[in-house]
Amino acid sequence: MISELKLQNFRNYSQKKFTFNHKATLILGPNAVGKTNILEAAYLLATGKSFRAEKEIEAIKEGETVGRVVGTTVGDELEVDFDARLRFSKTYKVNGVGKRQADFVGNLFAVLFSPLDLEIIVNGPAVRRRYLDSVLSQVHKDYRIASQVYEKALRQRNRLLYQIRELGIWNQESRKRLEYWNELLITNGKIIHERRKEYLEFLNNLPTRILPISLKYDHSIISSERLEKYAREELAAAATLVGPHRDDFTIGDRGRNQESRELKSFGSRGEQRLAVFAIKLGELEYVREATGQNPVLFLDDIFSELDHTNRHHILEVIPKQQTIMTTTDLHLVEKEYVKHVELIELQ
Ligand SMILES: Nc1ncnc2c1ncn2[C@@H]1O[C@H](COP(=O)(O)OP(=O)(O)O)[C@@H](O)[C@H]1O
Ligand SMILES: [Mg+2]
Repeated sequence: MISELKLQNFRNYSQKKFTFNHKATLILGPNAVGKTNILEAAYLLATGKSFRAEKEIEAIKEGETVGRVVGTTVGDELEVDFDARLRFSKTYKVNGVGKRQADFVGNLFAVLFSPLDLEIIVNGPAVRRRYLDSVLSQVHKDYRIASQVYEKALRQRNRLLYQIRELGIWNQESRKRLEYWNELLITNGKIIHERRKEYLEFLNNLPTRILPISLKYDHSIISSERLEKYAREELAAAATLVGPHRDDFTIGDRGRNQESRELKSFGSRGEQRLAVFAIKLGELEYVREATGQNPVLFLDDIFSELDHTNRHHILEVIPKQQTIMTTTDLHLVEKEYVKHVELIELQ
């Protein structure tokens, strides 16, 4: 639950406070008024990351050097500070006390559904890995830590492979250093792999009513045998060729008699949208079950994209947890429903 959100020099906001109903809030306003920016800020408190910016300091209001997002949950005040002058430009606080990202995340659980999520189906594997990360790093601390260690070890290992190749030093010393990174990648890769497998299995085991699709984990196993097998190629490429950074999953329909077909190539736009929606419903269930808490649901401008049946379906889901949604047009939201939401009008 998030009851209050304060923005300082964040995106188009200089100083602004929003309060959210514990049930449903609808943020209404024309294009480019700053609706998605509000959800970006709130979601940042859950994941520690922006879902729209590669370079996060771009979230600081133009012309400013520092920005801040503060949110109030049931018991805590969560704060993210941006400072463009610092090398590590983002810092976290819980109730005024500085935290590492791994300890900051986990204080608020959220599921975000936006039109951008269609990328999970139609784009490349990197988007799907990022999706898995966004869910699993919120829910599991071991996953957060393993991912951080893994990424760092991967960079170091690739650099070492590059040095070995370029300088041609293949001796006991470099072999020992490589062994060290291998060990870290294998141990942490295993944690990442197990959690991803568990999540995709959870989704697959949901009733067809919730998840009318099937997901297939296409995982890149990392082990000493595999690293040995690819050693020559890895040296030539100066890159680590196996491991969770090469994982992917495919999304297909639940073929009744025939083989499941991949939605990426066979699905219509409508079917693809439906599939993303289904995954999001499954995600809600997963977060609920894995944390024992009800996540906040953020719906960014989705009403225009859903047909009547799905719009109806989502209206059934909204009352099950705190929901904060945006729209440009009140007419897109079912009439009788509008009565039950608190409206924030931006202009
Ligand atoms: N760092 C920034 N500083 C100032 N304004 C920004 C910044 N980043 C984005 N904006 C502004 O935010 C607006 C878009 O906000 P957004 O939340 O995407 O709108 P919408 O209501 O359509 O969802 C644009 O007008 C854009 O110029
Ligand atoms: Mg928007």
